[in-house]
Amino acid sequence: MVRERIVTGTALPEDEASPAKSATPTLRPRRLADYIGQKELVEKLRISIAAAQKRSEAMEHVLLHGPPGLGKTTLAYIIAAELNRSVPKITSGPALVRPTDLVSMLTNLQQGEVLFIDEIHRIPAAVEEYLYPAMEDFCIDVVTGSGMHAASMHIDIKPFTLIGATTRAGLLSGPMRSRFGIAHHLDFYGRDDLMKIIVRSAALLDLPSRSEALELIARRSRGTPRVANRLLRRVRDFALVRGQGQLTGQVAAEALRLEGIDEQGLDALDRRFMQVLARDYEGGPTGLEALAATMGEESDTLEDVVEPFLLQTGLIRRTPKGRQLTPAGYAHLKLPPPRQANATGAPELF
Ligand SMILES: Nc1ncnc2c1ncn2[C@@H]1O[C@H](COP(=O)(O)OP(=O)(O)O)[C@@H](O)[C@H]1O
Ligand SMILES: [Mg+2]
Repeated sequence: MVRERIVTGTALPEDEASPAKSATPTLRPRRLADYIGQKELVEKLRISIAAAQKRSEAMEHVLLHGPPGLGKTTLAYIIAAELNRSVPKITSGPALVRPTDLVSMLTNLQQGEVLFIDEIHRIPAAVEEYLYPAMEDFCIDVVTGSGMHAASMHIDIKPFTLIGATTRAGLLSGPMRSRFGIAHHLDFYGRDDLMKIIVRSAALLDLPSRSEALELIARRSRGTPRVANRLLRRVRDFALVRGQGQLTGQVAAEALRLEGIDEQGLDALDRRFMQVLARDYEGGPTGLEALAATMGEESDTLEDVVEPFLLQTGLIRRTPKGRQLTPAGYAHLKLPPPRQANATGAPELF
């Protein structure tokens, strides 16, 4: 089901400031020094980049996994900029339909260049095989013709750095995973880092704002920089029309109330997920497929864009038997938790 969700971590057209439309600056940090948070990862990258430069070698391959909107693509650009002041060559798993699609990308790479493959878990298996020797030995063996005329051609490629990004590390094959020197899971951002991101963005947008307004946005951004920036832009539009341009806490609260975003940053879809779990399945545990069917949503969508944040905030939990609403989840819905059947083991006879 296609629907615009403003709290989704996935990119929406409005996120990419169109240069034709206005002088709105891009909010994407360009250098590692401007990248906020993810300290451990940034440190690892800093060392790898410096080491590669000292040895004049290609940097080791990097796998970034984690929910959408946390800065994976941004890092691919930053790494290319830090390594050789260039932009990465960009493709994605689903775009690599046939082995030749990959082979032509690989053979066109310059020494030390960065190749970014987004949604790397969606590379077809037949294409993935060609990636292994390319990553390991910087070569590919291409089979041409078939039957009696089949011939194998060995092609050397220039040492390069692969950056793979995925929201589903679990779907990556073992051999694939093991070929990355750095594999890092990006976590949702904490309140302080989000606040820094929003303060930086408000400054770039030239938006006069009270810190209480920015804090309110930070709290409702689901730990996701892309959501934080999007909420900031929406609130800014609202302030322009209703608040004479001044961004106060009250204006921010009113704008987000209109968008249906509650104090924890949940929107209607999140709340519906929890309500279905509470009302149709007595709080679970229940399978994701059943929930998706009841809601009329794709189970992939629920798993990628609804569940991670609900799990992270402890509103639902995952059990071997399926998804379950937690007491915190009931409290958020303002519903009484179901009375635990014989929680104490004592029969209610007397
Ligand atoms: N660490 C960060 N510091 C500042 N801004 C960030 C950071 N990470 C992400 N952003 C902002 O969030 C947006 C989405 O990030 P992106 O790299 O496209 O996410 P992903 O590829 O993980 O979905 C970027 O355009 C950028 O403005
Ligand atoms: Mg991305």
